[in-house]
Amino acid sequence: MIKLRDYSIADADRFADLANNENVARYLIYTFPYPYTKQDAAWWIETGSKVNNAVTKAIEYRGELVGTVGITPQTGWKEHSAEIGYWVGEEYWGKGIATEALHAMSDLAFSTIKYKKLFAPVLGPNKASMRVLEKCGYSLEGILKHEVFKDGNYFDGHYYAKFCS
Ligand SMILES: CC(C)(COP(=O)(O)OP(=O)(O)OC[C@H]1O[C@@H](n2cnc3c(N)ncnc32)[C@H](O)[C@@H]1OP(=O)(O)O)[C@@H](O)C(=O)NCCC(=O)NCCS
Repeated sequence: MIKLRDYSIADADRFADLANNENVARYLIYTFPYPYTKQDAAWWIETGSKVNNAVTKAIEYRGELVGTVGITPQTGWKEHSAEIGYWVGEEYWGKGIATEALHAMSDLAFSTIKYKKLFAPVLGPNKASMRVLEKCGYSLEGILKHEVFKDGNYFDGHYYAKFCS
């Protein structure tokens, strides 16, 4: 149903239209701004998506860009692991798109890039994201209290992980 592909600068306008949404940004890392401008999108596609050797893919659904999934490699004694993250434009929620994209990216990370561990920190209220991780075989490893302060609120970090079998 979905396809993962590389980004190109031609995606910037569509990317900004999808990303410029408070409901998408709410539980994402602070570097994902709201409002989200076309300049932000162009910078992210050309530069931000590659920071720290990240591997980032566009999620296509029925031929259209609908979201992003990516992994950020860890370094030093954690170089066998990578953080995985994803988002989907709000009008496409509830169709199984994130689940399929997370499955595909996890398979790629384990089989092609050869990571042993993938992990995702999820903020406490983000139950949909936790469900997506569970459907893809990730398990809750632990909860770090008040780990994040965002938009005037503290959030617990729920750490999910999956290991290469
Ligand atoms: C989280 C997110 C990626 C899910 O994308 P999606 O394509 O709608 O996900 P899916 O359709 O594959 O699966 C969603 C699951 O969550 C469930 N769900 C949705 N809202 C829920 C809630 N409030 N509580 C519990 N489960 C919920 C759905 O029922 C579904 O599970 P099911 O298949 O068992 O019914 C999407 O909402 C999003 O982009 N949110 C903003 C960005 C974000 O939070 N990214 C993750 C950061 S860790």
